[in-house]
Parts: sequence; C-alpha cells; structure tokens
Amino acid sequence: MGRFDGKVVLITGASSGIGEAAARQFAAEGAQLCLVARRADRLEALAAELTAKGSKSIAVAGDVTRDGDMEAAVRKAQETFGRLDVVFANAGFSVNGKAERLTLADYQRQFETNINGVLRTFHASLEELKQTRGVFAVNGSVSGHISVPGFTAYSMSKFAIRAFCEGARLELQKTGVAVVLISPGFVESEIQKVDRMGRYNPNQKSFIPPWIMVPAGKAAKEITRAIHCRKREGVITGHGRVFVCINTLAPWLVRLVLKYGPVPGK
Ligand SMILES: NC(=O)c1ccc[n+]([C@@H]2O[C@H](COP(=O)([O-])OP(=O)(O)OC[C@H]3O[C@@H](n4cnc5c(N)ncnc54)[C@H](OP(=O)(O)O)[C@@H]3O)[C@@H](O)[C@H]2O)c1
Repeated sequence: MGRFDGKVVLITGASSGIGEAAARQFAAEGAQLCLVARRADRLEALAAELTAKGSKSIAVAGDVTRDGDMEAAVRKAQETFGRLDVVFANAGFSVNGKAERLTLADYQRQFETNINGVLRTFHASLEELKQTRGVFAVNGSVSGHISVPGFTAYSMSKFAIRAFCEGARLELQKTGVAVVLISPGFVESEIQKVDRMGRYNPNQKSFIPPWIMVPAGKAAKEITRAIHCRKREGVITGHGRVFVCINTLAPWLVRLVLKYGPVPGK
C-alpha cells in the first residue's frame, strides 16, 4: 500500500530536477500523474516510463506563463482520471544578478513564471481540489526566507509565494483544501544551467559547491512526506532547515555571513 494509492497528482515543471524526481516518488507511492512542462519530449518519456511501471501517467505540454495552458492541463487530468487530489506548482527558474544591473524586464520575467505561474495553476485547479479536499502545494525556497545578494529577483518571487501560501491556507481552511509550502535548500537539478532569460545553457557555471547539493530523489521523498502530512511548510534538506532556523533565531549572523559571501555579478 502506497501513501498516494488511488490519488491523482498534477506537477508543473515535471520535465527535470525536483519536479521529475517528485513525479517518480509520487508514482512509487501509488499515485497516477499528470505531468506538465514545455519540453513535451521529456514529459512523454517520463510518462511512458511511469506508466510501464504501473502508475498511469499523462504528459501535457504547457507553459505556466501562458493564459489557458493550466486550465487545459487540469481538464486533461480530469478527463483521463476523473479526479485531482494534489497539485504541485513547482515550475520555476532563477534570474540571477546584482539589482543595479537587472532591468525591470528581468524582474517581470522572474515574477511571470515564479509568481503568476503559480497563480494560474492555483486558479485552474482549485475547483477540482475542492471536490477531493485535496492539496495545493507550491515549491518556494529557503530564498523565500533569506534574501541573498545577487538573487533579489528570485528571493522576491519566493518571499511572495510564501506570503501567498500563508494567507491562502487560512482562507481555504473551511473548504478542506490544504495549502503546503515546500521550501528547499540546494538540490541537484538543472536550475543552475538555466540563464536569466529562462533558456537552458549547459555551459553556465554553477556557483554552488557540489558537496552541499542534495540529490533530487532524496528531496522528493521529503516533499511527498510533507504533502501527505498536509504540513503548513516543509523545509527540505538538512542545511535548509539549519539556515531557516539560524535566520529565525539570529538573523544578524546570516547577514554577517552574506555580507562577505560571493555575489554572482552576471
Ligand atoms: N534546485 C534547487 O536548489 C532549488 C532550491 C529551492 C527551490 N527550487 C525550486 O524548485 C523548482 C524546480 O526547479 P529545479 O531546481 O528542479 O530546476 P529545473 O531542473 O530547471 O526544473 C525547472 C522545471 O520548471 C519547468 N519550467 C520552467 N519554466 C516553465 C514554464 N514557463 N512553464 C512550464 N514549466 C516551466 C522546466 O520545464 P520546461 O523547461 O520543460 O518547461 C523544468 O521542468 C523551482 O520553482 C525552483 O525555484 C529549486
């Protein structure tokens, strides 16, 4: 018996990294999946693999920045499975660079995916989730607690998402829909290879030391646990929990470390 037996889970950004690992983990725990992202070839390969292993899965090409795409994905999930129990609004990327060098367009591009993309996913799926008293989970970040130099655009988007989750969770209490914020630390994925325009660039250098990175599969196990428990917030990765804890108890210490840390000056 899996924790998600008979449940239907929709994941945005399921074509790589955390979303792909979460899809595998949900499938391993019994769920059926609706996989959404722009790279249809990757989604179709993953859907075929999960279906072959016994978890019926469908791939729906969609862009969270485009009006109507998420409604189409939810409709497809409903037609195929007849229900929707969990939505994991995970699609996102990072616009890096010092604030004085970033343009308004850079910030708007960041917010369009990381904030408005979550809102589109929320509005498209809420009525279905009310039917099953399901879970709307959002992938935030430890950067939604700590604003790091060189990442103001990304941190702003993740602070905003944390605010959304806190309020929406209370608003929806009577409907039976739980809102779960997932706040990961550093997790192995392709995010370091995506440039500030949102394009995959295999030559882009990562500034995160590999030793701190947590495998996506390990993070995915923590994510499904937090969603199953309908937690208010699941801070994912050990180092992530330490950072958030220190930031709460001694924010001056975090500021001191960040003051002398490297700033990606792209
Ligand atoms: N990795 C970390 O250390 C870390 C830490 C904290 C939070 N996070 C958050 O985790 C989430 C997933 O990121 P990741 O680290 O797994 O990076 P990733 O490997 O680059 O995955 C990002 C996913 O988002 C999808 N995506 C991006 N823009 C999209 C759009 N407009 N419409 C639909 N899908 C879109 C991508 O698919 P397509 O390109 O195929 O559309 C891809 O599947 C993000 O929200 C990120 O902020 C990551």
